Amino acid sequence: MNRSELARIAQAMVAKGKGILAADESTGTIAKRFAAIQLDSTEEHRRAYRELLFTAPGAPESISGVILYDETIRQKTADGTPFAQYLTQHGIVPGIKVDRGAKPLAGFPGETVTEGLDGLRERLIEYYKLGARFAKWRAVIDIGPTMPSAFGIEANAHALARYAALCQENGIVPIVEPEVLMDGGHSIERCEEVTDATLDCVFKQLQAHRIYLEGMVLKPNMVIAGKKAAVQASPEAVAQATVRCLKRHVPPAVPGIAFLSGGQSPTEATLHLSLINRAGALPWAVTFSYGRALQETALKAWGGRNADFKAGQLEFARRARLNGLASTGSYQPEMEKAA
Ligand code: 13P
Repeated sequence: MNRSELARIAQAMVAKGKGILAADESTGTIAKRFAAIQLDSTEEHRRAYRELLFTAPGAPESISGVILYDETIRQKTADGTPFAQYLTQHGIVPGIKVDRGAKPLAGFPGETVTEGLDGLRERLIEYYKLGARFAKWRAVIDIGPTMPSAFGIEANAHALARYAALCQENGIVPIVEPEVLMDGGHSIERCEEVTDATLDCVFKQLQAHRIYLEGMVLKPNMVIAGKKAAVQASPEAVAQATVRCLKRHVPPAVPGIAFLSGGQSPTEATLHLSLINRAGALPWAVTFSYGRALQETALKAWGGRNADFKAGQLEFARRARLNGLASTGSYQPEMEKAA
C-alpha cells in the first residue's frame, strides 16, 4: 500500500468546489430509473445515458470523481474510448461500486447486511487495471420501532471495515458508506440517535481494522426526518444536526465527507449541503456524492430522445455546478431561477 498515493487520490475526490457523481446504479436500479421515462433498459441505452453524463460540457469543473458499475467500467464512448480512460483524461477520478447489495441478515427480521467480501481482493486487482482508483461499498441501516439492533449495526460496520482494508491494500481509496435510510416516518431526533450509533461503530471498526484514515472518504446520510414523518425539520435544523453528529464521530484525519442524497429532492439536497458548509469551520472537506439528486432532472430532460441529448447534458452540468457551489457554502436557492 502506498499511503501518500491513497491520500492524494482521497484529496482529489474532495477537491474544493467539486464533488462525486454516483452513476453506479445496478442493472435493476437503472431499469427503474428508465421506466420513469418509459425507456427500455437495453445495454446501449445504459451506455448512451452514461456517455451523456460523463461527457457533459462544463461538468468536470464541478465533478471530481464518478462511481461506475461493473458493466459501465467495461463500456466505451461512441468513438471507442473506455469510460474510465475518458474520465481520467478529463481530470475526473473513476471509481467502482464493489458491494453486492444488502441481503437479509439471518436471525434479524427486517435488517440487512451488505455482501460482497468473497473474492473482493481479486476483483479490486482487476478494477485497478481497468482504471478505478476508488471504490464504494454501501451498508444499509433501516429505522423501525425495534430496529436497527446493535448487532445489525456492528455486522455492517465490520463488513465496511474489511472492505476498506482490502481496498487500501490494493491502492484503491474506499468510500465508506453507512446509509441510515430516510424512508420511514421517524423523527429527525431518531435519525440522529441511529446515525450517532452507526458512525460510532463504523469508526471503531475502521480503527480496529487499521484503516489509514487519510486515505478514505466517508459517505454518510444527512441527519433528517423520515420522508413519511408528519413533522419535517427546517433546512437549518438538518444542517445543525448533521454537523453536530459528524463532529462527534469523524476524526479530522479523514480528508472528506461526501453525502448521499438518499431520496431528498435535488434542490433540498443542494440547499442542505450549502447550509452545512456555512455552519462554521469544519475539519474536513464536505461535499456531495449524489446519485438521484444529480441525475433526476437531467434524465427527464433527455427522456431517452437522441434530439435531447444536449438538453440532458446542459441540465446535468447545471445541477453539478449548483452542487459545486454548495460544497463551498456559496449556493443560494435564488440561483435555481437564474441558472
Ligand atoms: P443517492 O444520492 O441517490 O442516494 O445515491 C447515492 C449512492 O451512491 C447510494 O449508494
